[in-house]
Formats: sequence, C-alpha cells, structure tokens
Amino acid sequence: MLPSFPAGSLGVVIGASGAIGGALLDSLQHAFGVTRAIGFSRRGLPSLDLTSEASIASAACQLLQSDAPPPAPHH
Ligand SMILES: NC(=O)c1ccc[n+]([C@@H]2O[C@H](COP(=O)([O-])OP(=O)(O)OC[C@H]3O[C@@H](n4cnc5c(N)ncnc54)[C@H](OP(=O)(O)O)[C@@H]3O)[C@@H](O)[C@H]2O)c1
Repeated sequence: MLPSFPAGSLGVVIGASGAIGGALLDSLQHAFGVTRAIGFSRRGLPSLDLTSEASIASAACQLLQSDAPPPAPHH
C-alpha cells in the first residue's frame, strides 16, 4: 500500500469483512491523506457482490448519497 495519498482521498475496500480486507481498511483509515475509508462485502450494508454489476452500481449510489451535503433548510 502507498505510504500516503493525495489529500482528501476516499479509500474503498471490497472484501473488507475478511482478514486481508479488514487489515487493509484499518490501514487506509489511518493513512495520511485519506479523509474517508469504507469497506464493502456481500454481507455488509450496503451489500456489494463483485460478480453483480447492479450491486456495484447500487453500492456506489449509496456511497455518493451518504457523501452528499444535507438538503438546505426551507424558509
Ligand atoms: N489470508 C491469506 O493468508 C491469503 C494468502 C494468499 C492469498 N489469499 C487470498 O486473498 C483473498 C482474501 O483472503 P482473506 O484471508 O482476507 O479471505 P476472507 O477472510 O475469506 O475474506 C474474503 C472477503 O471477500 C468478501 N467477498 C468474497 N466474495 C465476494 C464477492 N463476490 N463480492 C464482494 N465481496 C466478496 C468476503 O465477504 P462476503 O462473504 O460478505 O462477501 C470477505 O470480506 C482470497 O482470495 C484468498 O484466497 C489469502
């Protein structure tokens, strides 16, 4: 793994509930430059199955939505 990343990097690990993925996710969460690191797996939430394009797209959408700023308050 790189010792550092560009400032504001988002780390994504697929297979993060496993032994190697979990260790990688932990390293990314403490890596210089990584603002956020998130892990996916089939049994995680959101679920992501690497063999299913639809599930990858769905997980990516949920990740983007969770990054979106909250809606502006109505006056
Ligand atoms: N550990 C070692 O010493 C070692 C050595 C050499 C090579 N490897 C290889 O490195 C890989 C990871 O090893 P590991 O020990 O970390 O395995 P592991 O503990 O079994 O973890 C595998 C991870 O991959 C996820 N996963 C499996 N199929 C997936 C799919 N289709 N889509 C998304 N996520 C999926 C699993 O979660 P879900 O089941 O919830 O999806 C789990 O998080 C394996 O291919 C292994 O053969 C490991």
